[in-house]
Order: sequence, then structure tokens, then C-alpha cells
Amino acid sequence: MRMYDVISHKRDGKVLSEEEIRFFVQEYTADRIPDYQASALLMAIYLKGMTPEETSILTSAMVQSGETEDLSMIQGIKADKHSTGGVGDKTTLAVIPIAAACGLKMAKMSGRGLGHTGGTLDKLESIPGYRIALSEQEFAHQVNTIGAAVIGQTRNLAPADKKMYALRDVTATVSSIPLIASSIMSKKLASGSDCILLDVKVGSGAFMKTVQEAQALAEMMVSIGWAHGKKTAALLTRMDTPLGHAVGNGVEVLEALQVLKGGGPEDLQQECVLLAAHLLHLSDEKRTLPECAAQAQNAIANGRALQKFYEMVTAQGGDVSVLQQEERFPQAPFERALLAQHDGYISAMDTEGIGISAMLLGAGRQKKEDSIDPTAGLLSLKKTGDFVRRGEPIARMYASDETLFDAAENTYRQALCFSAQPVDRPPLLIGYVS
Ligand code: URA
Repeated sequence: MRMYDVISHKRDGKVLSEEEIRFFVQEYTADRIPDYQASALLMAIYLKGMTPEETSILTSAMVQSGETEDLSMIQGIKADKHSTGGVGDKTTLAVIPIAAACGLKMAKMSGRGLGHTGGTLDKLESIPGYRIALSEQEFAHQVNTIGAAVIGQTRNLAPADKKMYALRDVTATVSSIPLIASSIMSKKLASGSDCILLDVKVGSGAFMKTVQEAQALAEMMVSIGWAHGKKTAALLTRMDTPLGHAVGNGVEVLEALQVLKGGGPEDLQQECVLLAAHLLHLSDEKRTLPECAAQAQNAIANGRALQKFYEMVTAQGGDVSVLQQEERFPQAPFERALLAQHDGYISAMDTEGIGISAMLLGAGRQKKEDSIDPTAGLLSLKKTGDFVRRGEPIARMYASDETLFDAAENTYRQALCFSAQPVDRPPLLIGYVS
């Protein structure tokens, strides 16, 4: 088979055969296809699309390009959640212990943040001592005994995705629904859980800017999951404002902690309960969604979810005392309040711009090699729909270097639109696909 023919078939809008797709994935992973030919094929896929069958075959070839996680040492129903990425999305930090407190086995492998979106591993590492690297035995033991572990990837899962994603990143081919669906699902399938709940973010802070695109992505990922024997569902949730107030690493851990303590911003609280309820429902459809939501709320109210979080952090070497006495949690030395320059309603937020503002403070990476400042970040105090008076704080920023504030403040201010008229706050949940 010649790579030239595979490229020309897709360029001409043909459906690729299973053989062609597997040939590309295998040979590219083995470095026998050069980047320029792989780029041409990715661009052809970007422009011509892929059928659900082609996407499913591409996903399974990507899974088979590397190792798969064997979770058979873990007893019980193993569940996983995945967010397509947003600003201030710290739901994993709360949902994992809530679901574990309700009896699910949450064996979670997470990633790092890049660009305007954060990563769960970076957030957890802001807890002094937290270890993201566990051996397979330690991981299985922790999930069996506590019910939850959040670690970085250990095995060589879906190496084809790693190579393809790096190439897509520099060839303007990231935002293709079949390529995103196969990239995400190859990693989820290789991670070995029985149930997969996807949180597909929609809006100005997300990859998917429209509900239509998000719906198509969700349907594609859910059908790939079921085709590979996994119970899979997706929620479509709004990402037109940061989720909660906190955007950063340490600040997000503290906000997730508030949710586990029964407080926290209402949108974040609502989304964490929703995700935990859907995970429970997916794992056992005999339980209705309202029953599952009540169980999740109860795990927060009786303190079991918070206890699970403490147990997980302790087991992974984290200093739980900084969570119990929050004033001891590492803090940035500098702080700046952003005051409203006039009265008005916030009518829209360019949430990606707010993520970039946090990145400029040191909370995120522009390039994979960059290091992050765990104490840097911001609190978005006023969000779409809120009325603000001139002189009132609209955001609070934290950094280790005062010279970073001006650029971050400008970016933040540019991300806000104001109106003299009241504006509706759109509902958090847009849709559900199963
Ligand atoms: N996240 C992924 O893992 N892959 C994509 O292609 C996009 C978002």
C-alpha cells in the first residue's frame, strides 16, 4: 500500500478502507511515514471528514498502537470521566471523591494543561507532596481500598495519538470532529474503565464553539464507546463563563474543596453533582437519575466525599493539613484587584481570553516545556448576567511576579462585554447523549 494513494483517496472525498486506516496509523507510529505525508492526510480528513465507521476504525487502530491499561486487579465497576477542556473546570477534583464515596471505583488518568485550558495533574500538584506517579500495583491497591486515585499516564497508551496530536497542533488540524473524537476516545478506551462519562464543553472557552458541533462530537464519541463495549454517555455543558470563580491551580483546588464541604459557587456545585449523578446512573441504569443525584448530594452533606478526597490525597503523599487549614495552603506573594470602570451588566465573556489571562499570570503553559506557578491564578468574581457598580471588584489576580499583572489585566478586561440592559444567564446543561 502507498501512503500517496491513501492521501489522494481522502482528498477526493472517498471513504477510507479499514486496511488503509490501519496502514496509516501503524506506519506513522513506527516512523515509516514522514510528517509531510501524515500532515496531508490529516488536512484531507479535516476538510472532507470521516464517516462514523471510519472514525471508529481510526480509534481502534490508535488504541492498538500502544499498550492498554489492565484494570482487572481492581474489583467493582470502574468508571471514568473526561472533560473536553475549559476554563476553571475543576470538576474532576470533586467528582472523583463524590463518585468514590457512592461506591464507584474511580481509576483516573489525567493530563496537564496547555494554552487556555487547565489540567487536573497541575492542579493536584499544587498540594505539597502530591505524587502523580504511582506504580501499577500502588494504583490498583489505592483504588481497591479507597475507591479513587488520580495519576498521570504510566503505560505507553495510544502513542499514535501523541504523534498525531503534536502534528495537528502545528498544522491547524486540531478542530476536526473525527480527529478530536478518535484522539479522546483512543486514550479513554486504552485506560480500561467500564463506563465513560464525557463532558463536552460548548462556548467561548471551549474547543467546540457551537451546540451543533458539540452535539456531533458527543454523538461520535458515544457511538465509538459503545462500539468498543463500554457504557458511554456525554453531557453538553456551557463554557461561556469560567466554571466557578477560580482559574489557576491552587485556587481551583481550594474551590473544589468548598464544593466537597457543601459550599462553593452554585454553577460548580450543580455541575459536580450532575456529573457524579450521571456516572452513577451510567454504571447502574436501574437507579434513576434523581436517585443518583440525591446519593451524590448526600455524600457531600454527610462529609464522606470530603473524607474520600483527604484519603486520596494522603495516599498519594499530599499534605492534607493544608486542605484542613486553608490559610496554610501555598499562596502567591502578590495580589491585584480589578475594579469595574463603569456601571453595567456583564453581557458576555470571552472565556478563552480569561484562561489566557490566568496563563499570563503563570498559571498555564504556552508550550509543553513551560513550567507553571501553582500559586498563580485569578478569581472571576463577576460573570455574565451580573450587575457591577463602578469601583466594585470584578476579579482578583494572584502572581509571584508583580510585573505580570498589567498584561493579564488588559487581557482580562478585553474579555468582558458590558450592557446597560439585564442579560439572561444561560442554563449550564445543554444536552445529553447516550
Ligand atoms: N483533547 C484531546 O485529547 N484531543 C483532541 O484532539 C482535542 C482535545
